[in-house]
Amino acid sequence: MTALKLCLPEAVTPQQFLAEYWQKKPLLIKQGLPQLIDMFEPEDILGLALDEEALARLITQHIAHDKPKWTVKKSPLDETDLETVLAHADDTLANWTVLVQNLEQWSPELGQLWQAFDFIPQWQRDDIMVSYAPQGGSVGKHYDDYDVFLAQGFGQRRWQLGKFCDETTEFIEGQPIRIFDDLGEIIFDEVLQPGDVLYVPPKLAHYGVAVDDCLTFSFGFRRPNMMQLLDNLVDVATSDSTLFVPMLLEQDSQPSGELTEASISQIQAQLLQLLASSHGTSLIRQAVSETVSRRQYDILTPEEALDEQELMQALSRDATLQIDYSSRLIYHTDNDITTIYANGQLLDELSDSERRLLKRLANGEALNHQDIFDDSANAVAIDTLMSWLENGWVWLNMT
Ligand code: SIN
Ligand code: CO
Repeated sequence: MTALKLCLPEAVTPQQFLAEYWQKKPLLIKQGLPQLIDMFEPEDILGLALDEEALARLITQHIAHDKPKWTVKKSPLDETDLETVLAHADDTLANWTVLVQNLEQWSPELGQLWQAFDFIPQWQRDDIMVSYAPQGGSVGKHYDDYDVFLAQGFGQRRWQLGKFCDETTEFIEGQPIRIFDDLGEIIFDEVLQPGDVLYVPPKLAHYGVAVDDCLTFSFGFRRPNMMQLLDNLVDVATSDSTLFVPMLLEQDSQPSGELTEASISQIQAQLLQLLASSHGTSLIRQAVSETVSRRQYDILTPEEALDEQELMQALSRDATLQIDYSSRLIYHTDNDITTIYANGQLLDELSDSERRLLKRLANGEALNHQDIFDDSANAVAIDTLMSWLENGWVWLNMT
C-alpha cells in the first residue's frame, strides 16, 4: 500500500527541504494537506475540548482601559467557559482561542496524516494540536522552540512571520503566555486557505489571526533535551550491575579535607571512557531509544475492542493494520539486528516474523491479510495482533 503524498511543493524534494528549509527557513506549501479540508468542523473541536480526558486550553485576551490582559484556562473546561466566550458575554473580551493537544489520540484517521511528513524521522514527532478561533482570534505574537507545520483545516487564517528570536527576546511581562509586541521585519504575510500548510522553523516569530471561523492544525516536531537523555541514561544504568563496582583512582598526597580537581578529572575521564566504549554505546542507544519512543501523554481509556473473530473477518474483508500514530513505534538496526521499541519499552521477546511486521508498520506501511498471513510458517498469531491493538500500537483501518 502506498503512503500519502508528501507535504512538500512539487518543486521541492525532501533532500532540498532538509538542506534549505528544515530549521532554517519557512516554506508555504499550497494544498500540502488537502485531506484535512473539512475533516473536522469547529463544533467537533469545541465538543472535544470539553471531554474530561482531553488536554485543552482556553486562551482569552481582554482589553480594559487600553491594557491587554491574557488568561489561560486549562482542561477540564466546562460548558460555561465556552458559553461565556461564545456569547461574548463580557465586553472587554477582545479575542479567544481553544487549543486541544494530541489529537491523534482521538482520531487515528487524522494521525495517519503524519505519513505526509515521512521525510522527517517519525521519532521526532511531537503531536498534532488544533486551534479553533472565531474571526480575529489569535494566541498572540510568539515563537516556539520546535518545528511546526501549520496546516489550515477549516476557514482561513492570516499568518505573518518576522524575525528569528533568541534568549534575549523579551516577552510582555505579567502574562501567562510567552508573547511579545514586535515581530520584527515582516518576511511573510499571507492568508492560508483550507489544505494549505506553512512550515515555521524553531524560534521564528509568528502571528496567526483567524480571518473567519477557523481551525489550524499544528504538526509539531521535537528532539529530546539533555535532561531527558541523562534521566533515561541513569534509568538504564541502574539495571546494569557491572556499574556498581567502585572505581579505582590514583592518589597524590593532599590535604585530607580536600576533594581535588585532579580527583574530579580522573573520575570525569573514567566516566567519558565508559560512555565512549562499546558498553557505553549500548547504554546510550537504549537510553535514546527509550526516550524518543516514550509517549508524552497517558493512553486514553480504550473503546470497546474487537474480538479475535471480528479482527480476522475485518482483515479478510480488506481492512488493514497500520501504526497508530498516538503510539511511538521505532526501531534501529545494528549489524543486521533490528531492535524495536514501543512507547518507551524495548520489545525483547519478539519472533522474527513479529519483528518484520512491526518494522514495516513503524515505517508507515498498511498491512493487509496477505502481508500478515501469506506464509503460514511465519504468520503472526491472531492473539499477538490483538495485543498490539490493545496496547494501542496499531490501528485497524476498516475503510
Ligand atoms: C494557533 O494555531 O493559533 C497557534 C499555533 C502556533 O502558533 O504554533
Ligand atoms: Co506557534
